[in-house]
Amino acid sequence: MPDGLIEEDAISSPLLSCRNVSKFFGAMAAVKDFSFDLAPGEILGIGGPNGAGKTTLFELISGLNPADEGRIVFAGRDIQSLTPHAICHLGIARMFQSNAGFDTLSALQNVRIAAAFGQSSQGFPPLSYNAEIKRVADEAIEFVGYTRSLSAPVRSLPVLDRKLLMIASALATRPKILMMDEPVGGLNPEEINRLMELVKKLTRQGVTIILIEHVMRFLVQLSTRVLIMHHGEKIFEGTPGELATDDRVKEVYLGERMSKRVADYSQKAEHP
Ligand SMILES: Nc1ncnc2c1ncn2[C@@H]1O[C@H](COP(=O)(O)OP(=O)(O)OP(=O)(O)O)[C@@H](O)[C@H]1O
Ligand SMILES: [Mg+2]
Repeated sequence: MPDGLIEEDAISSPLLSCRNVSKFFGAMAAVKDFSFDLAPGEILGIGGPNGAGKTTLFELISGLNPADEGRIVFAGRDIQSLTPHAICHLGIARMFQSNAGFDTLSALQNVRIAAAFGQSSQGFPPLSYNAEIKRVADEAIEFVGYTRSLSAPVRSLPVLDRKLLMIASALATRPKILMMDEPVGGLNPEEINRLMELVKKLTRQGVTIILIEHVMRFLVQLSTRVLIMHHGEKIFEGTPGELATDDRVKEVYLGERMSKRVADYSQKAEHP
C-alpha cells in the first residue's frame, strides 16, 4: 500500500475486543459468554449489582485470573493466555477495588516501583532507579495532583491520596487503557469531583478508560457508553441517557428513584 494511506479496518478496529468470554468458579459462571468492544478514546462505564462479575471481568482482561473460554484481543493481538505483566507491558493497566499499594513503602517508592515495572521487560524492579524511571514517576505524581509527603508510608495516607497514588502507579507504566475498579468508593462529593476532573484529563492525554462504579453520578456523567452486568451477563449496553429508561436495568439494579436520578445526571453530562 502507498505511504500515507491507511487501511479502513485499522481505523474502525477496536482497541480492545472481548468475544464470548466466560469464567467459571465451580459450577457458577461469574462471567458468561460476554462480548464487548472498546474504541480508542472512549470512557466505558460498567455497572451492575454486587457479585455481577464486574471485577472478575477486569481479572480476565488483566490476566490475573485467565478466562476459561473466549478471546480477548488488544490492538490486534490475542492476550487471553498472556501473563499479567506481559499484558501490562503491552499497554493495559488497572486499579484495584481495594486501596492496593506497598503499604510500608513511601508514596514515591510506590510510584517508582511501578515506573520500573513498566520499563522492564522482565517484570521485576531493578535494585536502583535510572533517571528515566525517576522522571516518569515524578511526572505521574504531578499529573494526578498528589501533593502530600512523598516520604510518607502509603499505609498512613487518607483514602483519596491512596487512590491518587494507585492511579499514578498505573500511569507510570504508560498505559493505552486504564481500567478503574470503583475509583471513587469511600470518597466525599468534593473528592469525587476531583477524580472526575482527573479522568477527563486522562482521556485528553490519550488514555482510553474502562471504569466500574456504583456511584451513578460519576458513572453517568463521565461515560460515553455504559454496560450493565447481571449474573455474569450483559443486560444493557447503550448511552447514559438510554440507561435511565431501560426497564430491565430499573428492575434488577437501579430501582425507580435512582433511574430518575440517572436521567437527571445524563442530561447534565459533559463528555470530555
Ligand atoms: N476467586 C474467586 N473464587 C470463587 N468465586 C469468586 C472469586 N472471585 C469472584 N467470585 C464470585 O464471582 C462472582 C462475581 O464476583 P465479582 O467480584 O466479579 O463481582 P462484582 O460485580 O465486582 O461485585 P461488587 O460490585 O460487589 O464488587 C461473585 O459471586 C463472587 O463471589
Ligand atoms: Mg467488584
